Amino acid sequence: TRVLDLATIPGDGIGVEVVAEALAVLKAAVGPDVEVTTTEYPFGAEHFLATGEILGDDDLATLAQHEAILFGAVGGDPRDPRLAGGIIERGLLLKLRFAFDHYVNLRPTKLYPSVTSPLADPGEVDFVIVREGTEGPYVGNGGVIRQGTPHEIATEVSINTAYGVERVVKHAFELAEKRGKKVTLVHKTNVLTHAGSTWSRLVSAEASNHPDVVWDYLHVDAATIFLVTDPARFDVIVTDNLFGDILTDLAGAISGGIGLAASGNVNPEGAFPSMFEPVHGSAPDIAGQQKADPTAAILSAALLLDHVGLPEAAARVTEAVSADLAERGSATRTTSEVGAAIAQRVAAAAPTH
Ligand code: NAD
Ligand code: IPM
Ligand code: MN
Repeated sequence: TRVLDLATIPGDGIGVEVVAEALAVLKAAVGPDVEVTTTEYPFGAEHFLATGEILGDDDLATLAQHEAILFGAVGGDPRDPRLAGGIIERGLLLKLRFAFDHYVNLRPTKLYPSVTSPLADPGEVDFVIVREGTEGPYVGNGGVIRQGTPHEIATEVSINTAYGVERVVKHAFELAEKRGKKVTLVHKTNVLTHAGSTWSRLVSAEASNHPDVVWDYLHVDAATIFLVTDPARFDVIVTDNLFGDILTDLAGAISGGIGLAASGNVNPEGAFPSMFEPVHGSAPDIAGQQKADPTAAILSAALLLDHVGLPEAAARVTEAVSADLAERGSATRTTSEVGAAIAQRVAAAAPTH
């Protein structure tokens, strides 16, 4: 039998609640021919406060043994000074993305037919944001001098290597080949001229390898306009780490809410395990109340299944989600009720022999 050996990192807040549901759905989806083994890791804000550990190199080595990682969300009490400065976000989530070379941060956006968008006339919304995952302003290249004085200067230098940009751009074009054959580069080349010229040149060069893919360019500010006024124009958006972070929350909002937005931190070469997580965070405002929508985590599990070569199981999950969304009324259900309803649909569709 095929064994799927997963690590789970539920993390903090609603991360714990939604990963439980996503895992149950995933297990129901694979059928009897796949044996899912899981190891849960306790990393997150609570673990840090209890042990002083965030994520060590030995932990990375252990995690690297798994085929893929299902991640919830991190982020503890925002008022706790011991967690200030995104110490967990950087030390856990970004450390994993960097160490496992998750250079493709894959964030699909699809407005399901039965889901109400806040947009009056959204049209067909079905695009993927390919967000660079290992560079940009996220790398921690910066500092503060003359701190606490009126002459304080803080820098946050964005790193854009030809190696890093080229590979994610190539991935975006290859994805577009399989989809609507359109790539939109989003940047801010009119102001961030240095990084902008690197991105533009490498996109244009890659485009010449894909004559059947059309490509265009939008400044990031204009991209936020069109994501609201005409999202149907997009197929594949490729962009840097920070623009991609911002645009994917917006993409979630226009397609039915952040509770539906899934993502994968992908190392396409398979040198390291890829990691799948909802786009949302730990939502301290609703944590522990069974109010979180687990659908984003469940759809992230579907991306995981697709990535590990189980596309039929992945399709069972997305079809079950689609059916559940179609029957969702205004009645509020708990996190577990939504998860159980989807798991039940998936189980009914899965092979049983
Ligand atoms: P958030 O995504 O946690 O929450 C934003 C808003 O969306 C909140 O009102 C929340 O209740 C709502 N929301 C989020 N997920 C939902 C769901 N599944 N169902 C229903 N409502 C949902 O973003 P934030 O408040 O900016 O950040 C909270 C913490 O999470 C911070 O510590 C932040 O750093 C962290 N964070 C972590 C990740 C991650 O682990 N990948 C992502 C984003 C933010
Ligand atoms: C996301 C989150 C993270 C990011 C934070 C928590 C570091 O917002 O996954 O979108 O900025 O990438
Ligand atoms: Mn984000």
